[in-house]
Amino acid sequence: MKPRVLVTRHVYPAAIAILQEHCIVDYHDSHDVLDEVRLQKRLQHAQGLVCQLTDPITANVIAAAPQLRVISQVAVGHDNIDVAAATARGVVVTNTPGVLTEATADLTWALLLAAARRLPAAEQFLRAGKWRRWEVDLLCGSDVSGRTLGIVGFGRIGRAVARRALGFGMRVLYASRTAAPPELEQELRAIHVPLDTLLRESDFVSLHVPLGSETRHLIGVAQLCQMKRSAFLINTARGPIVDEAALVAALEEGLLAGAALDVFEAEPAVHPGLLQLPNVVLLPHVGSAVTSVRSLMCALAAADCAAVLTGERPKHPVNPQVLG
Ligand code: DGY
Repeated sequence: MKPRVLVTRHVYPAAIAILQEHCIVDYHDSHDVLDEVRLQKRLQHAQGLVCQLTDPITANVIAAAPQLRVISQVAVGHDNIDVAAATARGVVVTNTPGVLTEATADLTWALLLAAARRLPAAEQFLRAGKWRRWEVDLLCGSDVSGRTLGIVGFGRIGRAVARRALGFGMRVLYASRTAAPPELEQELRAIHVPLDTLLRESDFVSLHVPLGSETRHLIGVAQLCQMKRSAFLINTARGPIVDEAALVAALEEGLLAGAALDVFEAEPAVHPGLLQLPNVVLLPHVGSAVTSVRSLMCALAAADCAAVLTGERPKHPVNPQVLG
């Protein structure tokens, strides 16, 4: 008999076609998010799960799915999944790295430039009919070229962000647990420094670490106080990496020049203080939102789910120890 797979939310059609070749698909073709109770009910007889970053794949949900063998996340981040609980049960967890690297790095740069050059404020000014004439000091922003970019986390996306900085002639600092290979540091002209140094010396600080217990509120009051008053904070990783209340206070007190955020602590809620501030750029978690990229992410998750259920090795296991 074919294995059963739950697809928790609407996906690009290629994913369903891939799954249907090998599995019976229970497709919740909706943008409505299934809560823990509904997930538990629908997973009772499932061997596979294709889920998204909005889905709470908790230890309770995993426990309620006795036949579950694979959880395939349509995203690279997987902080919504209790990977330890899955691993303890021998359930493979997969994600979709690689395909979204360039799109996310592009959006990081869009945010950096938008914040530095005050693009949202300038556009609102024009649309509001306030533009009367060219003025020498109208809507002036901050330099980007030649300034210092600090990249926190130097995985695929952090490195792709650094590569783009070469074109802007920037000095690039990065903070990460381990240094990148010397050839790569040389190619990207990136210097490995402690986080404190990066925060003190950077004009733009861009976050690219995964969310976990070590990185939750990695940027809080103490870190924000270390940044230059002229600096900008950019976050395209995960909201809870930044203490949002501390960020609002720092921006209100002028401790930072601005921020550009694609992710938030309690999405889709946005801290009301952020909505009031003119020097922040706010986007609704669209880092990888390019049609071709999202379609590939869906297909990749489906293919890895089907791979596990047909006895093949998945391409992107998060807990490879389960595969032996
Ligand atoms: C991810 O993949 O983790 C992004 O946040 C969504 O593309």
